[in-house]
Amino acid sequence: MSHNLDRLNQKFQDVSLDQGLSLLSVEGFEKIVFSSSLGQEDQMLTHVIFTNDLPITIFTLDTGRLFEQTQHLLEQTMTQYQKSIQVYHPDHQELEDFIQATGVNSFYRSIENRKACCRIRKTNVLKRVLKGADLWITGLRAQQSQHRQNLKRFQWDQQFQITKYNPLIHWTLKEINHFIDQFNIPQNPLHALGYPSIGCAPCTRPIKAGEDIRAGRWWWEESKRECGLHINEPFQNIQ
Ligand code: ADX
Ligand code: SF4
Repeated sequence: MSHNLDRLNQKFQDVSLDQGLSLLSVEGFEKIVFSSSLGQEDQMLTHVIFTNDLPITIFTLDTGRLFEQTQHLLEQTMTQYQKSIQVYHPDHQELEDFIQATGVNSFYRSIENRKACCRIRKTNVLKRVLKGADLWITGLRAQQSQHRQNLKRFQWDQQFQITKYNPLIHWTLKEINHFIDQFNIPQNPLHALGYPSIGCAPCTRPIKAGEDIRAGRWWWEESKRECGLHINEPFQNIQ
């Protein structure tokens, strides 16, 4: 079924978060999946999906290099809501070949290695998971970076050939935190230690006062603060 994304963007402009998530099935989306990194935005969406018992499959990509605290939060979330989050892992052959060829931490040595690592541990896995789905929900927000400012609520993702729904595009971090406090939603303790944006442990550091919220991601690289999951916006050339 093809969807008129302009119409959906218009229609969803004024609906609340839980209304929007509930309306997706009514709009004809059948296999709806939500990718959670277990970050603040994603924990908030998980809360809304689980507490409203919505027909949306939540999954996470376990890169094998996540923080211990993130793994713990995954367990804690499933226990608290008594619901399941699907966990997906990289292809072991692909990963072994890469590590044997370049070493375990080769991402620090070159951008090519870094992109290859992200591709093997995340992008290729995401490709596999999204196959067969007809709507992909993310926790992306426009304010997260300059490159995400042109995001739309509904948009076609060229890389993964799927419609993407970003229900939090216009939310601010302050609003997200308010929602999280209000409903006592489980959070990664690293946020309080200066990590607003959390990815893999070796590629994430805390930020200093005044720094951009994504400054702690791949901090040793000059520019790109994206791993390749969301290249439609902004970088067409990241891979
Ligand atoms: S990233 O591209 O830099 O890693 P970011 O951490 O900002 O992304 O998260 C943006 C969105 O990408 C999340 O809301 C989530 O939908 C998706 N995402 C990022 N990392 C993962 C992951 N490990 N597993 C599942 N989804 C993820
Ligand atoms: Fe590899 Fe770092 Fe990318 Fe994680 S964030 S997949 S460890 S390069």
